[in-house]
Amino acid sequence: MKAMLSTEVGGPETLVLTDMPTPEPGKKQLLIKVHAAGVNFPDTLIIRDMYQVKPPRPFAPGGEIAGVVEAVGDGVTGFAVGDRVLGMTGFGGFATHILADANSAIKIPDNMPFDEAACFVLTYGTSHHALKDRANIQAGETLLVLGAAGGVGAAAIELGKAAGARVIAAVSSEDKAQFCRDLGADETLIYSRDMSDRATQKDFSAQIKKLTGGDGVDVVYDAVGGDYAEPTVRALAWKGRYLVVGFPAGIPKLPLNLTLLKGCQVVGVFWGAHTVREPQSHAENMRDLFRLYSEGKIKPRISARYPLAQAGDALQLLQDRKVLGKVVVTTS
Ligand SMILES: NC(=O)c1ccc[n+]([C@@H]2O[C@H](COP(=O)([O-])OP(=O)(O)OC[C@H]3O[C@@H](n4cnc5c(N)ncnc54)[C@H](OP(=O)(O)O)[C@@H]3O)[C@@H](O)[C@H]2O)c1
Repeated sequence: MKAMLSTEVGGPETLVLTDMPTPEPGKKQLLIKVHAAGVNFPDTLIIRDMYQVKPPRPFAPGGEIAGVVEAVGDGVTGFAVGDRVLGMTGFGGFATHILADANSAIKIPDNMPFDEAACFVLTYGTSHHALKDRANIQAGETLLVLGAAGGVGAAAIELGKAAGARVIAAVSSEDKAQFCRDLGADETLIYSRDMSDRATQKDFSAQIKKLTGGDGVDVVYDAVGGDYAEPTVRALAWKGRYLVVGFPAGIPKLPLNLTLLKGCQVVGVFWGAHTVREPQSHAENMRDLFRLYSEGKIKPRISARYPLAQAGDALQLLQDRKVLGKVVVTTS
């Protein structure tokens, strides 16, 4: 098998394409022939030892994959050689083969292409859990999505629309805004790529409020963080919910008096922990998502594909804030 290995702490340029023996599946494991691996922001962090999971080196990044079961370990039930599956692997996905715990794999519908399956669960799973379980979003409410053209952001637009919300997509460029309108966003807002200045933050808040007739938004889905966070909390409606999803722009701090003034909630979203701690709710959410996919209401938008040997370029694109929707690494 081949894998793009991280052998030292560093950026995408440190990954090395390496030949290695194909492993045998252990107890309750599947050996999966990887056809596609979804690229996610945590993949850029894990190779720098900046993610909560720090695998021993060498390891391949790649937290989610889709492919075909090639061998089945002892004690596995419900899977057979030849099954088309997706897997939440955490890492190891930028490779031709991967060992996955059988309980982290899900069979995929016959009509779902491998590349779409490889970028389905993490983005839609996170955004569905965030909007449904954490924000309890209601039809007719207003949802503001930050980083709306990115992986989880684009999923939040589609799921917000499917839930009957009015969606405002906030992004850093006009091509990203157009991408969001094509996904169904009702309104778009282009923010500065540098939000460090107080006046720029005030202007951002004012623009959000203006789009809601001065009332503010009911739910903020923040997958950006940094200096973008506080202006959106200031633009919340009474009893609004601010969802803490991700921090590509840094970990923000908030003046807590804002929560008093708005009667609002600051709500953490940790999808990975939710899948482990609340498996029944996770399974129900997965059923929702496959139904929405079969109804054509959600569909991963893949804007770039890279062969395994260029997986580092895929990560670089994400880091450079250049991705529309999803990027996929393909091995076949
Ligand atoms: N809470 C959870 O359970 C959970 C689950 C999955 C992912 N996440 C987190 O959610 C965040 C987004 O993940 P993703 O895979 O959707 O990433 P992505 O596709 O790269 O999207 C992130 C977006 O953030 C914006 N951004 C702002 N400042 C940035 C910077 N300095 N560098 C890169 N992007 C920047 C970019 O949009 P603009 O250029 O338009 O600003 C970009 O499109 C990550 O922090 C990830 O770790 C959290």
